[in-house]
Amino acid sequence: MASRESLTSYPKEKIKILLLEGVHRSAHESLGEDGFTVESQAGVPGGSELARKVDGIHVLGIRSKTRITPEILSKARRLLAIGCFCIGTDQVNLEQATALGIPVFNSPFSNTRSVAELVIGEIIVLLRRIFDKSRAAHEGEWQKEAKGCFEVRNKRLGIVGYGHIGSQVSILAEALGMQVFYYDIVDKLPMGNAVRMQSLEKLLKSVDIVSLHVPEDKATTGMIGEGQLDRMKDGGYLINASRGKVVDLDALARALHGGKLAGAAVDVFPEEPKGTGEKFACPLQGIPNVILTPHVGGSTKEAQENIARDLSAKLIRFINNGSTMGCVNIPQVHLPVLRDHHRILHIHRNVPGVLSKVNDVFSKFAINVESQYLKTNEKVGYLIVDVKRDISDEVFARIKGIEETIKARILY
Ligand code: NAI
Repeated sequence: MASRESLTSYPKEKIKILLLEGVHRSAHESLGEDGFTVESQAGVPGGSELARKVDGIHVLGIRSKTRITPEILSKARRLLAIGCFCIGTDQVNLEQATALGIPVFNSPFSNTRSVAELVIGEIIVLLRRIFDKSRAAHEGEWQKEAKGCFEVRNKRLGIVGYGHIGSQVSILAEALGMQVFYYDIVDKLPMGNAVRMQSLEKLLKSVDIVSLHVPEDKATTGMIGEGQLDRMKDGGYLINASRGKVVDLDALARALHGGKLAGAAVDVFPEEPKGTGEKFACPLQGIPNVILTPHVGGSTKEAQENIARDLSAKLIRFINNGSTMGCVNIPQVHLPVLRDHHRILHIHRNVPGVLSKVNDVFSKFAINVESQYLKTNEKVGYLIVDVKRDISDEVFARIKGIEETIKARILY
């Protein structure tokens, strides 16, 4: 028997949304304009305050610092969805959220352009040795010389990982007159005149600048170590704005100290301080022509605004019609707009026979099913059933009462 309270999505003003951590105001505006009751708060509430605040909340919006533990989830008895207004979802206990049938949404690609722009800026700054010259000028030294300085036009850029960010970098780099090569484990359509390379080794040997845009996984951890750096052109440059563990920083430091590479820009590190103002140490500190940035590739106002728009649209679609596109823990289903029907949204434990139990209820009550969608993952199934307008409380109660039901909601 489902233990958690199920809700209809109307009247909308009864749906309470709490946005924490200063989520960009455009989220508050869009959710408010759609008719929901929205409250925003700048900081991260402490554990007991958070536990109190989530009671009675239907949708919780957080960024990366609010930890959603099983204890917090147990207090959020009415929670329908969590929106992580950021890239990652590590701050949420996904296992428990899934077990409770609470979809968790994030916005992984809203800062793509910000990262791509940073990389392009770094390519120019590295090839002109701008930081060293600027630092010298700050210290009263006039370093007016062209030695070791180059235009980016006609240089060969190698992109490793041709996904959202890699392909944007590709387009921007070509606009600067660079020749673009890329390596990806998946067949990706080249943008413009970019050339696909068959192996990482070939790419490393062929280009002047290597920019990394892969995810962190088993295959990419330590992907760039001593062997790979050796294969790069003498006087080449390396940029990593992907994930810290992709590059062996000790090997990179040796390659820079020994003059194999002429420069590097690194935005992500295997160990990163938790908050702003904290101490930071890495083997690349103090090496000439090395740009170190504190994981700010995606940190722009525009990215924050894009995240707010993207996430609020996903949440609105989920509350209003049940679509779970962009959800990380419940199967993703794209649903048509609801017209003249009742829609039952049914999240259940993924074991055999649930669909037939639900359909037995419909046939017992002679209800004609208009359409039905079912998608499952390892843990849960998400079943959506559209029926004619006359579904009774009794039918809904029977469906909620099916043993495997985790959460059920009906939309009118
Ligand atoms: P994406 O998923 O769109 O693209 C990743 C690409 O890498 C895919 O095309 C994939 O096929 C490819 N790939 C995976 N394994 C590979 C391998 N072993 N060899 C070659 N290619 C491989 O990801 P997106 O959005 O482009 O992000 C790329 C990286 O940038 C991620 O690691 C992400 O965490 C990081 N990132 C960093 C930010 C920052 O602030 N510095 C902000 C946003 C993302």
